[in-house]
Amino acid sequence: MIERIVVVDADITTERVDAIVNAANVALCGGGGVDGAIHSAAGPALLEECRTRGGCPPGSAVVTHGYGLPATWVIHAVGPVWSGGGMGEAETLRSAYHASMARAREIGAASVSFPAISCGVYRYPLPDGARIALEAVAECLAHAGAPSTVRFCCPDDAVRHAFERALAELAA
Ligand code: APR
Repeated sequence: MIERIVVVDADITTERVDAIVNAANVALCGGGGVDGAIHSAAGPALLEECRTRGGCPPGSAVVTHGYGLPATWVIHAVGPVWSGGGMGEAETLRSAYHASMARAREIGAASVSFPAISCGVYRYPLPDGARIALEAVAECLAHAGAPSTVRFCCPDDAVRHAFERALAELAA
């Protein structure tokens, strides 16, 4: 299973895959970080479609088209804001990955690229965020219709090291 997961140095907006996952907010109104980069690359039509979705609660995910992006679809996932770990953040983050993989199955995406959801502005500690991401995605790969390839796109060494370490732990 986990041979279907790869960790790459990549700007997710350049990924030529069926779906990329956005680290969005509950309002689906765009923002900074990877959300800002995806909206900037997709163009204004992405925000227009997001506005038709009526928001997305933390731990959930909704799908839109990719517009100007190389990816066909964007899966907007909302992770938790880190509040010290006592507010169910781990469960919400796991749920955001599970929901993203469920949307990917529903649209028949064979290839999906993820960012490190919640590990930026939302301040989720990177090592735990990476471990939860890989565990959650690996659990879903066993499901019928799951993507054949999942890519974790790392914009810098810190993110890549965290995901490479988490992948190695999963493989051990
Ligand atoms: N490609 C891949 N990864 C990226 C890119 C990119 N182009 N840009 C940023 N990242 C990484 C960050 O380095 C971080 O590891 O995405 C991860 C998630 O960081 P954020 O984008 O800050 O997302 P998050 O922590 O989930 O916070 C979401 O930030 O931008 C707002 O509207 C967004 O309110 C939402 C909040």
